[in-house]
Amino acid sequence: MSALRTDSPQALRSVVVGTGSSLPAQVVTNAALTERVDTSDAWIVQRTGIRQRHIADASETTSVLGTRAARAALDDAGLTGDDIDLVICATSTPDHTFPATATQIQAALGIHQGAAFDLQAVCAGFVFAVSTADKFLTTGSARRALVIGAETFSRIVDWEDRTTCVLFGDGAGAVVLEARADAGDRGVLCASLRSDGRHREKLYVDGGPGSTGTTGRLRMEGREVFRFAVGQVTDVIADAFAQAGLTADDLDWFVPHQANRRIIEASADKLGIPREKIVLTVDRHGNTSAASIPLALDVARRDGRIQPGHLVMIEAIGGGFSWGAALIRW
Ligand code: UT7
Repeated sequence: MSALRTDSPQALRSVVVGTGSSLPAQVVTNAALTERVDTSDAWIVQRTGIRQRHIADASETTSVLGTRAARAALDDAGLTGDDIDLVICATSTPDHTFPATATQIQAALGIHQGAAFDLQAVCAGFVFAVSTADKFLTTGSARRALVIGAETFSRIVDWEDRTTCVLFGDGAGAVVLEARADAGDRGVLCASLRSDGRHREKLYVDGGPGSTGTTGRLRMEGREVFRFAVGQVTDVIADAFAQAGLTADDLDWFVPHQANRRIIEASADKLGIPREKIVLTVDRHGNTSAASIPLALDVARRDGRIQPGHLVMIEAIGGGFSWGAALIRW
């Protein structure tokens, strides 16, 4: 990995210089789901806010979606693969057990330098990946990172289980982070990450290469996850604000993991974040796990909501449990 030569590595900041996303072509509405699952549009909308999700076809693997999102982020930044020396892909649905999906994306983009690896923190994966990339960039261990969240949860949900299968969708999002010594107050300001493996049974996949030798299917105690998400996850948000010496009043955009509109709004209310500062995409994307935040970031940046200088908070909780929050000055 190329090291950035600098006399004052502590002055480096990880600045977002590009975003991109990719969604499978196939849109599945709630109405379409009722043809294969005992559910209703009214139940899904009322309990989750989801109206539709994108579902990958056989050719659209996680690396394919991730590569498209990464390419869009590179184009947005005016960069090519030659400019990238770190690729991190947050995913729980890798194309294969190994090699890392990040290396498949790296190869597809023609990147032959630097390191590429996957990061597995389920729905919190993108927040963990941003924080990890930030450490590489601000210590001079990498110059520019592609940070990707890419998922095909449609492959691991149990399509016979109506309590979970209606919630998830497929997609990918990516950001390019660049190490800059002249960033001023821009860049990743801080992150707060937590995990507590005692909650495994509440959200897990019932198989894996080291246990059953199968992929397994997603299992979730929805009510328990809901309670934890609203009740506990605010600790990382409060910690991130404290680290940065900022408050919810300073925030321009709250970009949470998109699992459930009720969870998002209850969390925002608890934190004193006005509803108009929430970027909400769960209605169109469903829960895309590690992809949900970079997908939402790309939507809000391209429609003009997120502007340079804005203070953005990303926040997520998922299986493990693992949860985290990060503050980014755009
Ligand atoms: O991304 C990782 C993090 N994951 C999450 O954040 C998900 C967190 N959990 C949730 O979002 C919510 O708990 C759910 C959306 C999963 C469920 O909402 P809920 O308000 O907690 O509903 P519930 O599980 O308490 O179920 C209420 C009723 C049940 O019927 P009874 O027992 O009251 O007769 C369910 O059987 O709704 C029934 N139900 C459904 N009905 C129609 C469950 N799934 C469905 C369905 N369609 N798809």
